[in-house]
Amino acid sequence: MTKRLYIETVGCQMNMLDSELVVASLRKEGYELADSPTGADAILFNTCSVRQHAEDKIYSALGRLKHAKNHHPDTVIGVIGCMAQNHQQTIFRRAPYVDLVVGPGQLHQIPQLVRDVARDRQPRLEVSLARSAGSRSEVEDSFESYDPLRDPTMRPTPFQAFVRIMIGCDKFCTYCIVPMVRGPEQSRPAGEIEHEVRHLVEEGCREVTLLGQTVNSYRDRSATPHVRFSELIARLHEIDGLDRIKFVTNYPKDMSDDLLDAVATLPKCSHYLHVPAQSGSDRMLKAMKRGYTVGEYREMYSRIKERIPQAAVTSDFIVGFCGESDADFTQTVELVRESRFKNSFIFKYSARPGTKAAENAADDVPEAEKRRRNNELLAIQNAISEEDNQPFIGREVEVLVEGPSKASQKQADDSHTLQLTGRTMCDRIVVFEGTRRQVGEILPVVVYDANAFTLFGSVVTSHVGPEVYSL
Ligand code: 5AD
Ligand code: SF4
Repeated sequence: MTKRLYIETVGCQMNMLDSELVVASLRKEGYELADSPTGADAILFNTCSVRQHAEDKIYSALGRLKHAKNHHPDTVIGVIGCMAQNHQQTIFRRAPYVDLVVGPGQLHQIPQLVRDVARDRQPRLEVSLARSAGSRSEVEDSFESYDPLRDPTMRPTPFQAFVRIMIGCDKFCTYCIVPMVRGPEQSRPAGEIEHEVRHLVEEGCREVTLLGQTVNSYRDRSATPHVRFSELIARLHEIDGLDRIKFVTNYPKDMSDDLLDAVATLPKCSHYLHVPAQSGSDRMLKAMKRGYTVGEYREMYSRIKERIPQAAVTSDFIVGFCGESDADFTQTVELVRESRFKNSFIFKYSARPGTKAAENAADDVPEAEKRRRNNELLAIQNAISEEDNQPFIGREVEVLVEGPSKASQKQADDSHTLQLTGRTMCDRIVVFEGTRRQVGEILPVVVYDANAFTLFGSVVTSHVGPEVYSL
């Protein structure tokens, strides 16, 4: 008999991929996806620990299930992913009706664990070793990744897929919980990645996004000689049928010239580069232990723009980090103004127990001030994004059509034309009128309007006209 699985995913693309793999493994057990928790046989929350807010929301969601669990005691409720590794037993204490707590390095065990719980109703906790709980190789071995299992229905679209090329992180930025919950940095063998991408392309994928916490630190040390990230990209570039290669997230210090040259010269490589700066103040970067100065970030940024003038660079910033003064924040504003990032993701600092910053420094910027700085920086960035999208008006861009836009998803299936959405090579979102048959195609679109976040265009039906920009 089919069983119903409801899964809710928060956090980064790594989590979206993990959910895809968990769903694939549970389908093998006879589970079908449900779009609501009501009546589901298993309810899983794939969680994030990067900021406290994300964890609080999971506890609230669990609170809402308490009543349901009284009525349906057989439902298996699981908390999986980063928060499971981070909070472990605390989750059972705060929500005693939770059956499963499974860290990101133990997700391969979920089918067995769900079976075990269904049989004896005993809660199960499966997490990886803490970073200090064994030798490096013991801790590494306790984080297992099981990527070849895939589920096409869980992908962003049937022709786009995330591919993990590494797990974990060794940078230990003082504010960040990721090295603790996702374990040591480990690169997957290049041959395995290539095999997986070939398989995805055979299934119809045209675009892959390579994932790693510091994706450009990739190095396959199992091969002789070692395979660098630029070499991995070059290998994937050879795959017939693959049209686009993207990758996130880059670490500024590892933005090497060979990588930039690969991006500049390999036509399937997206010119979208997410390289978080986090702050424009040397004092803050030092306290964050980011490993570079603002001068070095600027130098790296100029190297990107020299080699790839049309590159769309995006960044992350944390405002209100421990001890951040007005002067520090002003320096961040300056960096944002001068860099003209395509987009910036701005976060208010959230102290994470277990990190160096939470242990050693006071979270001393008041919440209202964090909010003010967040809003100010966001307004500056949004104005830049809007200005820098204006030159696209009148230009032709190449769009991979992802599907109906949010607005048109409610439209009846039989309507001939509908609003579609897609992305350019530089990850700009484009909205335009089209037909369902165009979904999954790469089409030329002329832009007639633009705001900070979206380009609006029309599909070009004849090829007489302006040159197609690979943007
Ligand atoms: N508080 C706020 N933002 C954080 N990030 C990571 N840790 C924290 C934290 N403790 C942000 C960083 C990172 C992004 C994914 O989340 O900007 O690049
Ligand atoms: Fe966290 Fe720093 Fe690693 Fe990024 S590089 S995941 S911010 S520790």
